[in-house]
Amino acid sequence: MAAPNECQADDGYDTGGTAGSRRRRAVSGTDAGAAPLLRATGLHAQYGESHILHGIDLSIAAGEAVGLLGRNGMGKSTLIRTLMGHVRAAAGTLTVRGANALALRPDQIARLGLAYVPEGRGIFPNLSVRENLLMAARAGNGGRRDWTMEKVLMAFPRLAERIGHGGQQLSGGEQQMLAIGRALLTNPDLLILDEATEGLAPFIVGEIWRIVAAVRASGIATLVVDRNYRSVLAHTDRAVVLEKGRVVWSGPSAVALADQALLVRYLGV
Ligand SMILES: Nc1ncnc2c1ncn2[C@@H]1O[C@H](COP(=O)(O)OP(=O)(O)O)[C@@H](O)[C@H]1O
Ligand SMILES: [Mg+2]
Repeated sequence: MAAPNECQADDGYDTGGTAGSRRRRAVSGTDAGAAPLLRATGLHAQYGESHILHGIDLSIAAGEAVGLLGRNGMGKSTLIRTLMGHVRAAAGTLTVRGANALALRPDQIARLGLAYVPEGRGIFPNLSVRENLLMAARAGNGGRRDWTMEKVLMAFPRLAERIGHGGQQLSGGEQQMLAIGRALLTNPDLLILDEATEGLAPFIVGEIWRIVAAVRASGIATLVVDRNYRSVLAHTDRAVVLEKGRVVWSGPSAVALADQALLVRYLGV
C-alpha cells in the first residue's frame, strides 16, 4: 500500500468519561508529582514498509518547553504526527493528561489540550483572518480562555491590520502567524511548532520567536522543532535529539548549547 500509515479517524471513541475526570488536575509547572502532560514510551511508527520511529521515550511536563532537534529526515515530524494521532503508532504507549491517546482520533487528542502547527501551516485560504481565528477559538482545559481574539491580535499586530483579508492574500509570515494564532485560540496546554520559521524573512522570524517566548512565559508547554538550533535551545528548558528515529541525547538546553561536540555530532553544525 502506497499510502502512509495514517489514522483514518475511524475507531476512536468518546473521551468524555475517563479523560474528562482527569482534566481538573492542576496544570501548573510546579505541580510536582503529577503525571506528565504527555508521556510516550517505546513509540514505533512506520510508513508502509519503512520503519521510521524505533522506540521513542518522551515526557513533557505541564508548562515545560522542550526542543526537538536532529538533522533532516531523522523523524521529528513523524514523531509529532504520531503524538497528534495523524500517524498511527505501530507499538508503544502514549498518554496525554492520563488518557490513552493511541485509542483516540486526532481531533480528540487535540481536545485533550494539544495544539499543533504543522510544517507548511494549515489555515483556510478562502476564509478571512477573522474567520480563521473565530472558528479555532474555544476554551481550554478547566475552561481557560487566556488566549482570546483580542490577545492574539495584540500579540500579532500584523494580523489585526489584515483582519478582513482572505488567508490566501497573506504573506508566508502572516500565514504562519495566523496558524499560531489559531493554535493559541484553542487555549492549549501544549503548543507544538514544527518548523514555524521555515522560509520566513528574518524580521518575521524574530516575531515568531517573540511569541514562542510569550507562550512559554504564560505557562503553556511547548514542543519546538526548528532548523535554527540556537533559537530552539534559547527558548526551551530541555532538548531531545533524534537520530534515525531514536532518542540519542536528552538534557537541559543550556547543556546542549554549551556542548559543541554534541552539536557537531548530531546536528552537523
Ligand atoms: N508520508 C511519508 N511517507 C513515507 N515516508 C515518509 C513520509 N514522511 C516522511 N517520511 C520519511 O520518514 C523519515 C523521517 O521524516 P521526517 O519525520 O519528516 O523527518 P524530520 O522531520 O526529522 O526531517 C524520512 O526518511 C522521510 O523520508
Ligand atoms: Mg520535519
